[in-house]
Amino acid sequence: MHLTCVVGARPNFMKIAPILEAARASANITPVLVHTGQHYDEKMSQLFFNDLGMPAPDCYMGIGSGSHAVQTAKVMIAFDELLDQQPTDVVLVVGDVNSTLACALVAVKRNIIVCHVEAGLRSGDRAMPEEINRILTDQVSDYLFTTERQALEHLEKEGVPESRVHFVGNVMIDTLFKHRERAKERTILNDLGAISKGYALVTLHRPSNVDTLESAQNTMAALQEVVNRHPVILPMHPRTKGKLQQFGLLDTVTGWKNVTVLEPQGYLDFLALMDNAQVVVTDSGGVQEETTALGVPCLTFRDNTERPITVTNGTNQLIGLSATRLATALDDLLSGKTQVSDRRPELWDGKAAPRIIEILERLFV
Ligand code: UD1
Ligand code: UDP
Repeated sequence: MHLTCVVGARPNFMKIAPILEAARASANITPVLVHTGQHYDEKMSQLFFNDLGMPAPDCYMGIGSGSHAVQTAKVMIAFDELLDQQPTDVVLVVGDVNSTLACALVAVKRNIIVCHVEAGLRSGDRAMPEEINRILTDQVSDYLFTTERQALEHLEKEGVPESRVHFVGNVMIDTLFKHRERAKERTILNDLGAISKGYALVTLHRPSNVDTLESAQNTMAALQEVVNRHPVILPMHPRTKGKLQQFGLLDTVTGWKNVTVLEPQGYLDFLALMDNAQVVVTDSGGVQEETTALGVPCLTFRDNTERPITVTNGTNQLIGLSATRLATALDDLLSGKTQVSDRRPELWDGKAAPRIIEILERLFV
């Protein structure tokens, strides 16, 4: 079976790595990796191939940044042309970025089987670009692999038959378990003069938190509450850096005494930073899941989450977009009023990718 796997943006690399590894181990599957180039900076792309020990992509499309329409359309055209050359029985896409939807749509129109890994997550917020990508990708996919049981309810409500849905667990957590020990060898804490469990790690990049002056100022107010209580380590996403620069706020953040602003970090260094953090404050989807797997408290600075399992069966708290509520949550963690849950989501056991490959073999080989 010729399996074409797609990556485009940072969180895709951690999701595809274990799938590729399991596919390569199968005598019946010939996997090919296509990188759309949605993310292209060394620190948003190449670094992850090194850290995860992934071979270079078989094809790099070099699409780059643009509006949603431009980026999605460019990926579609390039992927369509690629599929003219590349023998493909199944296209496998992960997550919810523009590259995910674009490639799924191209494949289904060519009558190629589409598999979506991380299907059925819903934030209920259609203003979030990823929510549109999730809904549409799931609609055009033939086989849907889910990370939590509630995903099936969302899919059934949208008319997806249960027979096409497979609950397999979380491939991102496969990657986390595989690399956690290696991350412990990193020197990043020492290099930064940070103390284990003595700092807050912050990542913020959602358009709803940084794209307008008003939202960026609100995010800064929240950050100020973290800074008032903890030394802060802040690896900054290029979207956030660009927007803060545009609003004239970047120098204020980098000027705060208690904050270390970093470039986006590689996977192993970032994992070391998460594992040793006292608390993580984020709006990232993947980071909500990883902190739950690590047992590190996570405060999500958003109004909604497509990953409620990390709240009900993990360490995540949904704070909303309120600096005051964030301050209270930080105080409650510091005082011990909030206890960190030791529950973990079902099947987040490091074996999701082999389950997916086993199912693909059963279905198509
Ligand atoms: C994308 C995903 C988002 C995901 C995030 C992961 C969509 C709709 N959004 O958001 O779900 O959480 O990736 O990090 O697909 N830029 C660079 N260098 C890069 C990449 C981007 O400087 O290598 C800058 C550009 O100015 C670009 C901006 O970041 O315009 C945003 O990039 P884009 O890929 O459009 O969206 P993200 O915010 O990264
Ligand atoms: N991550 C990383 N370096 C960073 C920030 C995040 O390696 O500086 C990793 C993180 O551990 C997770 C993934 O990137 O595996 C999450 O990606 P991101 O937050 O960009 O996207 P989202 O999950 O919100 O779509």
